[in-house]
Amino acid sequence: MFFVKLWFVIVSCVGAITVIQSRMHPRTDTPVVHISKGVAIVDISPPTKRIVEIYNFTEITRVYGREFAGDLWDVASGDQLRDSFIPSADSKFSENTPYGRIVLGRIIASSEQSVIYEIVGIPGLLIKYQANCVELDPEYRLSDTSYVHPLVVDYIYGRKAARAKVGPAIFFLSPPGRLCVSRGGKCVFKMNAKDFQSCVNRDGATLRYMLMERIQGESLYAFKSRFRKGIVPLYTSLLIGNAMIASLERLHKVAKTIHGDIHTGNVLLERVDVHNGTVCLKFVDYGRSFSNIERVNHTVRDVGWAEHFLFSSWELEGYEPAARDDIERAVQATAHLMMPWSYIETEQRIAEFGADALIHWKRSYYWFVEPRLARSLGYDPVQALEISDDYRTPIRYNLQLIQGMVREMKHVNTIPPYSDLLHGFRATRGLVQVARASYIRQRIDLTRTIAPSSSL
Ligand SMILES: Nc1ncnc2c1ncn2[C@@H]1O[C@H](COP(=O)(O)OP(=O)(O)O)[C@@H](O)[C@H]1O
Ligand SMILES: [Mg+2]
Repeated sequence: MFFVKLWFVIVSCVGAITVIQSRMHPRTDTPVVHISKGVAIVDISPPTKRIVEIYNFTEITRVYGREFAGDLWDVASGDQLRDSFIPSADSKFSENTPYGRIVLGRIIASSEQSVIYEIVGIPGLLIKYQANCVELDPEYRLSDTSYVHPLVVDYIYGRKAARAKVGPAIFFLSPPGRLCVSRGGKCVFKMNAKDFQSCVNRDGATLRYMLMERIQGESLYAFKSRFRKGIVPLYTSLLIGNAMIASLERLHKVAKTIHGDIHTGNVLLERVDVHNGTVCLKFVDYGRSFSNIERVNHTVRDVGWAEHFLFSSWELEGYEPAARDDIERAVQATAHLMMPWSYIETEQRIAEFGADALIHWKRSYYWFVEPRLARSLGYDPVQALEISDDYRTPIRYNLQLIQGMVREMKHVNTIPPYSDLLHGFRATRGLVQVARASYIRQRIDLTRTIAPSSSL
């Protein structure tokens, strides 16, 4: 355990600004626990059970930008005034919120360190509980960075996204409370029991909750599951790909936010109409988001720091995530939609060979045909179309152009070519449409010419 040596500015228990440079909190004589470069915690248990997070705002500004630091200041100040809304780890089924005492309903999703519940009697609202165990785990070496509780990040950027109309409305973030003593109720996370127990014993482990609007729709992952072998028709996939790029442009430019974790599970589809070409979608899960600010154009981590197939090629190489990574991930998600499940399994298998193999696949291969490996079907969505062969080459060429635009974003601060990408998606979709129409016309003509002779 480290003790705070830096000058930390905190919002004190009574709301006044205090500066401390000590190992003990000046008022309460409680130890100050340094949990990352930017965050420390003063554990003031009795009588309020409140845990006070202290931020090194210089460090936070350096990493997240000035605007985030301002928003974080507001969160820290708000936390001091909301003792009655500290998550109650003792009660498994209900929670005190500014909207009254709510009763937890069905679980709609749970992951490593978060769980989302429906709320009985309020269908339009969801409650998300999240812990910060991953951030505290020494294995991930995040204490060198300046992480903030992931639900605070989700809340701050989620609100910006909501204002830009690309995310659900966010209503409330609770102050931090203690983790539940066992892995159940509000802490019914996917992490294994042993990891949970070590997290409970760790200084700085906290639980927060957030109230948000429930989007009426389903994730792209769930949408994909409704198709045979998970293959979403090419035309529909391109329509959704186009909508993701358009919404990312709003997120990056209007909300000035990088999502940081785009994949089919974090994109919610509200409506898709292939006849009039409209798609409504929203992004959720802003826990890895950050401000769209200048990043250093050199690697900050060694290759191999991550080996997950969802990371972009640049993230895998160790560059700081940026707008270009959201775009690469969105184009990848479009490929995931139009491909069978075996394509994703193949990518996972490539990842087993290590980060270099994954980077090579992402950099040098054509993503819109399944690579032939192990159980892969070698599926080609353009070949699968019922169209004349004359159209296949231009459609493939267009898909290659889209991929080329992604690869061309060579600098970490490259502004993605949104309008070219949108044009690319529209043009490819147009070609698919024309090819289909021409094919159907040919079939009709054929039946017309065959019909009289067959009637003889
Ligand atoms: N506001 C929302 N409205 C509807 N469904 C949501 C909402 N937020 C999350 N979900 C559902 O819960 C799942 C997990 O949510 P997410 O915020 O991504 O949590 P995690 O941090 O566990 O990945 C999503 O894939 C989506 O299906
Ligand atoms: Mg998610």
